[in-house]
Amino acid sequence: MDEALLRTVQTMPKAELHIHIEGSLEPELIFALAGRNNVPLAYASVEDLRRAYAFDDLQSFLDIYYAGASVLLTEQDFYDMTRAYLQRAKADNVRHAEIFFDPQTHTARGVAFSVVIDGITRALREARTQHGMSGSLIMCFLRHLSEEDAFSTLEQALPHRDKFIGVGLDSSEYGHPPEKFARVFARCRELGLHLVAHAGEEGPPAYIQTALDVLQVERIDHGVRCLEDPALTRRLAREQVPLTVCPLSNIKLRVFNQLHEHNLLALLEADIAATVNSDDPAYFGGYINDNFAAVFEALPLRREHAYRLARNSFTASFLDPQAKQQYLNEVDAFFEH
Ligand code: HPA
Ligand code: ZN
Repeated sequence: MDEALLRTVQTMPKAELHIHIEGSLEPELIFALAGRNNVPLAYASVEDLRRAYAFDDLQSFLDIYYAGASVLLTEQDFYDMTRAYLQRAKADNVRHAEIFFDPQTHTARGVAFSVVIDGITRALREARTQHGMSGSLIMCFLRHLSEEDAFSTLEQALPHRDKFIGVGLDSSEYGHPPEKFARVFARCRELGLHLVAHAGEEGPPAYIQTALDVLQVERIDHGVRCLEDPALTRRLAREQVPLTVCPLSNIKLRVFNQLHEHNLLALLEADIAATVNSDDPAYFGGYINDNFAAVFEALPLRREHAYRLARNSFTASFLDPQAKQQYLNEVDAFFEH
């Protein structure tokens, strides 16, 4: 690819809207935390663990991802993990991050909700004061668990209402359609929380439809399978529903065979408000700039697409209008020369 374009996508100001903080846990940190906490691991070394990162589909990834997260026990562990992600994101000129966390993965192991959210929040506050980065949290419900379990997680979260801005839906998609969580999302909407959901990653376009109509989400995470349904594609464009697309994730989990077959350009050409994100960077071979570099290398994307993607990332964020405009001005200034 054109060196100037590569430099542009890497240095442009951007927001990251689809990053699971547990998916930023690098093998080295997994081993360090396992040692610190005396948690046994099924892998002999960092290299041995990395070799296991060959996935056939979403579920084969999730099994390893939940095993990796089992080393997280203390507030300091959640702080260390989040700090490492934020430092890495800063190097990619991420100016704002909306970060997913999976409390049920931890509370099911006896880790208190407050330990999880306080550790993550401490790192976010520090990034704001030290690096001028903004960040907020979106709590995901695990869709392979029951709606009742999601309700009890919401109960545990409410004393910390000021520390997260919204809720999402992640984990195994097939067989767990959005409408399974209709009541808990309705409750979250009453509470004034922002709503997002993973849909149309592995699951069918119908899941995108019900995420919009039943859950009333404001963004779709992934959503790449929307192009199989022309009416849905037109609707996403008309309503400018943002999609948080994660190109390297889609290759690792075999949603597309190769990056040159990815539909990011087709989504943009259909006038959909797509964004580029890393999903689970420690597992999928790269952080946000690695995703930008790889997808610009594989597809005939140009400078005008870089500009659109940078703008989309802030427009699609849940920042207040004033902060959003400030970041959009930064993007415009960056692309002026
Ligand atoms: N899809 C569903 N659940 C997840 C993902 C994903 O890409 N990453 C972490 N949890
Ligand atoms: Zn995801």
